[in-house]
Amino acid sequence: MATTAQPLPLTFHLFHRSIRGQLLEWFRQQGKEFPWRKLKREEGATVIVDPYVVLVSEVMLQQTQAARVAARLPEFLGQFPSLGSLAAASTATLLRAWQGMGYNRRALRLQGAARAIMEDHAGVFPSDATQLRALPGLGEYTVRAIQCFAFGMDVPVVDVNIQRVLSRLFFRCHWPRAVMPPATVMAVAAAMLPAGEGFRWNQALMDLGSTICTARKPNCSGCPLHSDCASAEIPQLTLFHPDDVRTPEPTLCGIPQRFWRGKMVEALRHAEGGVPAHRLVDDAAKLLGYQKKMKLNEEREGLNILAALLQEGLATRIGVQEGELREGDVVMLPR
Ligand code: ADE
Repeated sequence: MATTAQPLPLTFHLFHRSIRGQLLEWFRQQGKEFPWRKLKREEGATVIVDPYVVLVSEVMLQQTQAARVAARLPEFLGQFPSLGSLAAASTATLLRAWQGMGYNRRALRLQGAARAIMEDHAGVFPSDATQLRALPGLGEYTVRAIQCFAFGMDVPVVDVNIQRVLSRLFFRCHWPRAVMPPATVMAVAAAMLPAGEGFRWNQALMDLGSTICTARKPNCSGCPLHSDCASAEIPQLTLFHPDDVRTPEPTLCGIPQRFWRGKMVEALRHAEGGVPAHRLVDDAAKLLGYQKKMKLNEEREGLNILAALLQEGLATRIGVQEGELREGDVVMLPR
C-alpha cells in the first residue's frame, strides 16, 4: 500500500527508545503464555510457524476472548489440522466445531480463505500482502498479523488495542476512546518496530493493551511505560465522555438480535434432519430463556432474522431455493 510520509509526534522522538526497551523487557518477564505464541519451529536458521494455525487463531481472536481461544484452539486444530482439511469439511461440520465461539460468520470466512488458498495457490499459503489481501474475508489487520506472526516479517500490526496503546503513549488522550488519526497510528507503529523483533513487539503491545492500558480502566501506576507516556494518570481517561455512547443494538423481545442469531445456529447444530422455521424460532427463544408466548409480529421478526442467516450461508432450506422464507420451510445447517 502506498503511504505518504507522516510526521511523527515529538513525543516519539523523545521516548521511543526507552519505550521499546522497557516494553520488551516487561513482555519478557510478564508476557502471557498462549498456544499461538509457541508455534515456532526452527529449521537451521529459519524460523517456521504454520501460517494456517496463525490464520485460525487470529480469526478466532477477533471477537472471542484470548482465554477461550486458548482453550478451544487445540481441539479445533485436532479436527481440522490443515488448510486442506478445513477447506474440504462440510460447512455443517465446521459450524458444529465452532460451537461456543460466537460470531459464526467468522467460521465461514475462515473456510472461504482456506478454500481460496487451496484453489488459487495450490495450497501454499501466500506471504505477499497483495495476495493475502485478495483472499476472501481477510481484513488489513489479519493480513499483517499473518505476515508478522507466521512469516516473521517486521510489519506493524494495528488492532484496536494497539491503536489505543500507541495513541495514549504519544498523544495526550483525554478520554477513553480518543486515538490518533489512523495514518499517524500506522506511521508510529511502523517507526516503533524494533528490527527483527516484530513478533515479540506486536504481541507485547497486545498484552499491554489487554492487561494494563485497557479501554476503560487503565492501570497507569502498574504500567512499565508510565514515565514515558503522554497520557499517564489523566483522570478523565476512566470517565464517561458524551461521545462515548454506543449505538443501540436491534433487539427482538428485548433481547439483542445477535443473541437470537447465535441461538438459532445453536439450535440448528442439534437439528440433524432439519427443523421447520417457526420451530427453530421457538427453540431459539427457549435457549435464550424467553418464557412468554411470542406475538405474531415477533414470530415474523424471528423469521426475518433466520432469513438473514440463510442469506449469509449459515443455514439452508431443504427443497426450497428461493422466495420469502415461510414458517413451515424446513431449515438446517448448510451441508
Ligand atoms: N488478539 C489478537 N491477536 C492476538 C494475539 N496474537 N495475542 C493476544 N491477543 C490477540
